[in-house]
Amino acid sequence: MYDKKIAIGCDHGGFKLKNRIIEHLAENGIETVDYGCYSEESCDYPVIAKKIVKEITNGVHDYAILVCGTGLGMAIVANKTRGIRAVTCFDSTTARMAKSHNDSNVLCLGERITGEYLALDIVDTWIKTEFSGGRHKRRVDMFED
Ligand code: RB5
Repeated sequence: MYDKKIAIGCDHGGFKLKNRIIEHLAENGIETVDYGCYSEESCDYPVIAKKIVKEITNGVHDYAILVCGTGLGMAIVANKTRGIRAVTCFDSTTARMAKSHNDSNVLCLGERITGEYLALDIVDTWIKTEFSGGRHKRRVDMFED
C-alpha cells in the first residue's frame, strides 16, 4: 500500500463516481485527498487535472485518480506534464497492464462510460498491481528522453 494519500478529482461529469470511489477506498483503509469539483455544477476539467498533476510533480502525491464524463479529457491534459503517465481504463485487464507494464501514475475513468461496479474493480486492480520493472522500466524511461 502507498504511504502517501491518493489524489482524486473530477469535473461535473464525474462527480458521482468520484464520491463513490472516495467512499469505497475509505472503506478499504485507503485515504484520498479530494481536489474537487464539489458539486455537479458545470466546470472545466483541465483546471482540476492541472491542479492535481502539479501536486504529483511537487511530490505531495505519487498517484491520482481523475474522473470526468469519458475519462479522456482528463488523461489528455494530465499527460501534458512531464513525469505523468495517465491512462484511461475501461476494464480490469487494461488497469492491470497500465500499472504492470506502463507504470501509470494517474488513472482516468469516465462516469458516463463505465458503470460503478466495474469502475471500482478497475480502481482496486490498478491500486493493487505493482510495476513489473525490468524491460518495462527501460521502456518507461524512454518516455521522457
Ligand atoms: C463534460 O461535458 C465532458 O466533456 C467531460 O466530462 C469529459 O468527458 C471530457 O473529456
